Amino acid sequence: MPVITNIEDLRVLAKKRVPRMFYDYADCGSWTEGTYRANEADFDKILFRQRVAINLENRSTRTTMIDQEVAMPVAIAPVGLTGMQHADGEILTALAAKKFGIPFTLSTMSICSIEDVAQATGNHPFWFQLYVMKDRDFIERLIDRAKAAHCSALMLTLDLQILGQRHKDLKNGLSAPPKLTLPNILNMMTKPRWGLGMLGTSRREFRNIVGHVKGVENMGSLSEWTSRQFDPALSWNDVEWIKKRWGGKLILKGIQDPEDARLAVESGADALIVSNHGGRQLDGAASSISALPEIVDTVGSRIEVHMDGGIRSGQHVLKAMALGAKGTYIGRAFVYGLGAMGEQGVTKALEIIQKELDLSMAFCGRTDIRSVDKGILLPGSY
Ligand code: GLV
Repeated sequence: MPVITNIEDLRVLAKKRVPRMFYDYADCGSWTEGTYRANEADFDKILFRQRVAINLENRSTRTTMIDQEVAMPVAIAPVGLTGMQHADGEILTALAAKKFGIPFTLSTMSICSIEDVAQATGNHPFWFQLYVMKDRDFIERLIDRAKAAHCSALMLTLDLQILGQRHKDLKNGLSAPPKLTLPNILNMMTKPRWGLGMLGTSRREFRNIVGHVKGVENMGSLSEWTSRQFDPALSWNDVEWIKKRWGGKLILKGIQDPEDARLAVESGADALIVSNHGGRQLDGAASSISALPEIVDTVGSRIEVHMDGGIRSGQHVLKAMALGAKGTYIGRAFVYGLGAMGEQGVTKALEIIQKELDLSMAFCGRTDIRSVDKGILLPGSY
């Protein structure tokens, strides 16, 4: 077993252990993958100011996101098909997040259902991410199910009415459960640990959906389902009725433009997430970290601004916080941990990120994450 010291180690191990179609699904962007790469690469341009001889005792990464206590300003992002990276992946990730003291967000397109996660975590509150589909009755019931499960925030995704093209998913014939074609069978035979896990669970399809929508017994491919069921007419009017029906904390995900950020404030949401969907939607869009400062300047005093995209280390979290984010999300970073080592791997990913965050903050001369601001960054580098 290799010594795991960073998220890249987990990625390498996940690539060995997870069937190709699911590994590729997570580790890809749309079209040229330019935005996907920029999300991570643009963090490198931002430089820290090292400070010395400051008392570094009693450090804390604790803060709040939408008024909820978090052990560090990092939440688990919603990732579709997480339960295909590892058997019962959403449940295992929710348990790791609960123990660590950070929020877990369940995707509408998850394998384990809202009810599965609620039951397995002893009704510990988690966040639920909503996609809006044409079948509004189903969406209303989904919102009600999230309420019944004591979800403590609803995260509405605004940037996926239609799906960006990811070449690998088409080439791999991505579906859940995987189709038993010869190439899939041959590939899965090289992943015995994954296969044993999958044989040991009954959760192998989109359980928020299958059995809850009339006529849907088996959904198969994500891209087909999206183009048939997701509502391309989604508008700010929908945000209004969804907010009313939900009645709790609302987070809007997928804001990249200051004009949309203003509309997000007007909608009365509690937070917005600066996000380009991990570079999986509009390839050629700016990286999230480069879009963040202008959005913070425009609306940061009126709404909590969060960000995701490209976060693979605690240093990335620290840079986002310095540029005014009040919280960040990890998607691929936890998925790699999960695919590599299940719940233990997610915990490992969280430990790695927290340690990097804590040490880097200290090298910048700060002991409390809540005091971090642009003063820790080298002027001219951001
Ligand atoms: C869905 O959210 C996806 O990015 O595949």
